[in-house]
Amino acid sequence: MTSRKAPGPRRAPGQSESETNAGPLRREWTKRLGADARARVEKDAACFLHQSVSSPCLSAIAKAQGIWIEDMDGRRYMDFHGNSVHHIGYGHPRLKQAIARQMDELPFAPRRFTCDAAIALAEKLGAITPGALNKVLFTTGGSDAVETALKIARVATGRFKTLSFWDAFHGAGFGASSVGGEQLFRLGPIGPLLAGAEHVPPFDAYRNPFGIEHSRDTPREGEVGDMVASLIRFTLEKEGDVAAFIAEPNRAVPYIPPPGFWKKVRAACNDAGALLIFDEIPTGLGKTGKMFACDHDAVVPDILVLGKALGGGILPIAATICRPELDVCGDFALGHYTHEKNPVTCRAALTTIEIIEEEGLVENAALTGAWALERMGGMMDRHQAIGDVRGRGFLLGIDLVKDRASKEPARELAEEVLYRCLDNGLSFKISMGSVLTLTPALVTTRDEMEQALGIIDAAIAAATRAGRR
Ligand SMILES: Cc1ncc(COP(=O)(O)O)c(C=O)c1O
Repeated sequence: MTSRKAPGPRRAPGQSESETNAGPLRREWTKRLGADARARVEKDAACFLHQSVSSPCLSAIAKAQGIWIEDMDGRRYMDFHGNSVHHIGYGHPRLKQAIARQMDELPFAPRRFTCDAAIALAEKLGAITPGALNKVLFTTGGSDAVETALKIARVATGRFKTLSFWDAFHGAGFGASSVGGEQLFRLGPIGPLLAGAEHVPPFDAYRNPFGIEHSRDTPREGEVGDMVASLIRFTLEKEGDVAAFIAEPNRAVPYIPPPGFWKKVRAACNDAGALLIFDEIPTGLGKTGKMFACDHDAVVPDILVLGKALGGGILPIAATICRPELDVCGDFALGHYTHEKNPVTCRAALTTIEIIEEEGLVENAALTGAWALERMGGMMDRHQAIGDVRGRGFLLGIDLVKDRASKEPARELAEEVLYRCLDNGLSFKISMGSVLTLTPALVTTRDEMEQALGIIDAAIAAATRAGRR
């Protein structure tokens, strides 16, 4: 007899892109907080709405400088997470000066008025993005920029359906949650979400749902990519009226697309009359060792979405950038967002891009990231618990498994490694329950990278010696 899962009113969502605050090891670790941090964490839990990847918080922060953060107890951590906002390092002096000067000159632009900083940023984004993407709209957060892209796709195509990847994250708004594929944002009473939001499996070769056995020794990511690209073409054809396919060109978990994958998807979208939207909110502005992750494949989307690091790790700003033919919403309101042409956030973004260009940060991410990936390969040779290492530039992942044959995620081991690393001055996040996900600032040097990987190496050795799986 087969057993059935009992239907229940509430089911806990599965693990997704960020580790939740419910882990048993997390409770143990927070018991060791000093008095100052503990007092803040308790106050925070009392006054903030609880959600599974933020409050109750891990600790309380007092300083953020360069690649470092410091908690209220004076413990310092290299921040290899930073929500991917800290490309230029926290508190870059040139950015702080530019923001201060802009606040003196013009602190705000109310709706109906434009300003120099907003125009200069729009022109700069048009110049650095690929192809003819040059019509821009600014929002305060990435989720809103995704909503804007979806609205443009609807108006431009006269269609409302979307296609996107399971497990993807595109933001917390209803539109963004609908095209997202994480249970954390979809399961249970928050729905119903937008109608017509269809999904396909991602191009994750290591744990693909097609039964294709991929590993470092027998790489078969090309086959997985072909399978997913065919599925996308098939679904677009069968649906027949999809407005847009939206995806991160390089999944932030990280999963790296196999060569040629995006060219096939681009062709499938063209044939089906669907737009291609690239969400480069975490990957844009150099994270993957090119200015945009889609530059690796030389595929130009119809709409590109940026956010996170655009505000230099100080201010919130995001952008939707599309080709001029998609300027089709003149009679409607896409945003009219309160801070749509805020001169201070625009100045911050413009200065951040200048710093990235002038300090050679994209090149550093490419070179130091390639070196790190090789070093991680060496760690995999020594640790059976590492099932896979993957990455591009400064988007790197170490996938921990209970055993290499089953690839079963080693969730407890990943948690223990994280807390051992925190004890030794390194912070990062865990994705999908078992992937140590490293997204360091683009200013991180080879020595700092070496130091961080050394901390992880030692933590994996100690945790596996202690019998954690
Ligand atoms: C791929 C992706 N899209 C959208 C978002 C949403 O951005 P925001 O948190 O600024 O709304 C994020 C944030 O983590 C992201 O990683």
